[in-house]
Amino acid sequence: MGNENINESIGRGISVFKNIEVLYPEYVPSYLPHRELQLRLLEQIFKPLLTDPGSVSIRAMLIGGVGVGKTVTARVFSRNMKKLALENNIDLKYVHVNCHRDRTLYEVVSEIIRQVGAPIPLRGLSPREMLLALLSHLERHKQYVIITLDEFDYFIRTAGNDAVYFLIRLYDEYPDAVKRLNYIFISRDITVLGMLDSTTESYMLKHLVKFEPYKLVELYDILIQRRDLAFYEGTVDNDVIKYIAEHEGVDRGGEGNARSAIEVLLHAGMAADNEGAQRVSIEHVRKAIAIIHPDVVRISDELNNLDLHELLLLKAIIRTLKEKNMPEVKIGDVEEEYRYICQQYGVEPRKHTQVYEYINNLKHMEIIQARVSGKGYRGRTTLIKISTPLDPLERRIDELIEKRRK
Ligand SMILES: Nc1ncnc2c1ncn2[C@@H]1O[C@H](COP(=O)(O)OP(=O)(O)OP(=O)(O)O)[C@@H](O)[C@H]1O
Ligand SMILES: [Mg+2]
Repeated sequence: MGNENINESIGRGISVFKNIEVLYPEYVPSYLPHRELQLRLLEQIFKPLLTDPGSVSIRAMLIGGVGVGKTVTARVFSRNMKKLALENNIDLKYVHVNCHRDRTLYEVVSEIIRQVGAPIPLRGLSPREMLLALLSHLERHKQYVIITLDEFDYFIRTAGNDAVYFLIRLYDEYPDAVKRLNYIFISRDITVLGMLDSTTESYMLKHLVKFEPYKLVELYDILIQRRDLAFYEGTVDNDVIKYIAEHEGVDRGGEGNARSAIEVLLHAGMAADNEGAQRVSIEHVRKAIAIIHPDVVRISDELNNLDLHELLLLKAIIRTLKEKNMPEVKIGDVEEEYRYICQQYGVEPRKHTQVYEYINNLKHMEIIQARVSGKGYRGRTTLIKISTPLDPLERRIDELIEKRRK
């Protein structure tokens, strides 16, 4: 080890992280890979706020599944908007209310007032009086606000149609007023809007921005961005990132959820630190996945239902994965290992077609994942992987094999 390396490892303490906070949920990156389209759409929708402020009350609705970047996009968008507003001498405030926490009309309006920083006494006022007081405060200070109502479906369910109507159609009553309130609504699904009367519903759906679950390549870019910010250089290989992206990617049967992908990366780093490892390995990722997706217990249960040859095959998959040190292995290599293991145990190996059946069965039970290879492999072959930590799994399998042989 050269001097530089020694200094580096001292400086590093014993951690692979240089800035772990970057992986926490509240961190807002300066740039969002693969949300350019949504950000551009929002810019278009909110353009009148910059070119002709006060002329209309703007509203947009962000729709998409779990962890697809709705909340963070609203935050990044408003950060950009505030900057642009400032350049145009427009005093723009941003308010972000989580309706999961504040779900009554009173709570939502109080929270808006609190975040705007308007000195309005809340006691004894009705939501309507509070909101009117806020409007005159904004009028006096010539301020505009973008209000994000996140997890808005909770508000609809709890507060109901009239509250939604009151909140977002206030300007109907004052058509000549300068429009200072603008809204971004966020919800995971759109069906909840069916609880509203049809005019309010169509009012809300005016500008819809959709968020699709992330694909492998998209998660890869998102994770690379976080890795470079969070980890010391050289501690997390691209292969490790790719493994996480494959696990979560919607095109690989995952949820397409960036939140859990980032969480896996965080826990993998922590697993490496726990072991005092210099680098994050794929096995650390498997451990992280086991913590976040507690599948291990389920799989250990399922193992009891397997027969001897399924167990031997599973052991062969594990041995091959370990030996090749790759996220996925080819069925041909697994079969070779399987025959070798059978020989060691002194049992007759099953034929190829039967092995194939076993693979399908294990896949069906979600103990392994299997897919047919695409480009990059000579010919087409079945690739197999296991997402749970291999060591405890192999130990359990060894125990069961011993039992079955008795
Ligand atoms: N395109 C992206 N680039 C960088 N980070 C992203 C991107 N999309 C999502 N993230 C990160 O993934 C995590 C989840 O995103 P976010 O909280 O915005 O999801 P969401 O759509 O609001 O999900 P939920 O419906 O569960 O609230 C956050 O840490 C966020 O910073
Ligand atoms: Mg969210």
